[in-house]
Amino acid sequence: SQNKLTDRFGRTVNYVRLSVTDRCDFRCVYCMAEDMTFLPRQQVLTLEEIARVARSFVDLGTEKIRLTGGEPMVRKDILELVKEIGTYGLRDFAMTTNGSQLATMAEPLRKAGMHRLNISLDSLDPEKFRNITRTGKLSQVLDGIDAAREAGFRGIKINTVVMKGRNDEEVPELVEFARKKQVDITFIEEMPLGEISEHDRGLALCTSEEVRDIIRKHHELVPATEDSGGPARYYRMEDSETRVGFISPHSHNFCSTCNRVRVTVEGRLLLCLGNEHSVDLRRVLRGNPVTDDKLRETIINAMDLKPERHHFSANGDVQILRFMNMTGG
Ligand code: GTP
Ligand code: 5AD
Ligand code: SF4
Repeated sequence: SQNKLTDRFGRTVNYVRLSVTDRCDFRCVYCMAEDMTFLPRQQVLTLEEIARVARSFVDLGTEKIRLTGGEPMVRKDILELVKEIGTYGLRDFAMTTNGSQLATMAEPLRKAGMHRLNISLDSLDPEKFRNITRTGKLSQVLDGIDAAREAGFRGIKINTVVMKGRNDEEVPELVEFARKKQVDITFIEEMPLGEISEHDRGLALCTSEEVRDIIRKHHELVPATEDSGGPARYYRMEDSETRVGFISPHSHNFCSTCNRVRVTVEGRLLLCLGNEHSVDLRRVLRGNPVTDDKLRETIINAMDLKPERHHFSANGDVQILRFMNMTGG
């Protein structure tokens, strides 16, 4: 259907990121505090409500949906939602996951109509992996990546948040890993979401420029010609299909071409990752009477609230109090 979602700056929104849970089996240092309180059940959208939101966006011209978390796979019956959205005829249907359950879930996800997976992997060293994720087990994720490759997804991408002193020295190994597994890899600059006291973001920030310089000691990086349409800038290497991407919110602002919005698991429609502007869809979903007309109208009107850009600062000052697991990445 024709796209009906345009904001005040002339940007078309055709990509929606739906967070299906704030919960996670990991506690990555850049994402969560060690002890987190999670949302009570009644505040969380049901899978039917999430599907209804997804359907409304598709009716308004959305071509791409990504399910995020927390960790999407800890949501009970997530496959039912994937199957439902899988029938909407999307051009691109994807999930961002920590990979902990992919060993068993990859194939059912693919069969349910999911096209692509982004899998977080910050270290190939079991101990460092444990230090970063606090509760994660590396071997499970590696098995998950293999299962995903066997399941025949259209695309698999590794996401690595690079932090000084934690995993910056592993960048070359991670690139070799991606080449060996024939998957793409994206290196991400850490973003200041949520106050996490035991972790100093200002000290840990490793810029994409630094990461590129490390990789260039091993491989020639040629800018990829195709436009990712998203925050990542991609490069190609010799003798490999693997693309290396960089997401650099601190040094490369891509807000002018932003095509996306997010919906939190509480049903808050967030217009920008780096701002608090939001609209409450849950109230509409649980209103009386509930009509899809009203839901669509609310979504269309919300586009006027999309801010021009985010203002992340590199010194680690917290500007956004929402944690990443509440935001959906
Ligand atoms: P594809 O381009 O579809 O592969 O996905 P993606 O890279 O946008 O999504 P993913 O969930 O893998 O997120 C990777 C990183 O990009 C995370 O750290 C996200 O927070 C970040 N990211 C995604 N969208 C935005 C955005 O609109 N603004 C900013 N600043 N960062 C974003
Ligand atoms: N900054 C940058 N990336 C983050 N992620 C989670 N928290 C942050 C943060 N503060 C990444 C995860 C995952 C993706 C959804 O976002 O590693 O790959
Ligand atoms: Fe979980 Fe992903 Fe957050 Fe890590 S970054 S704690 S895997 S939601």
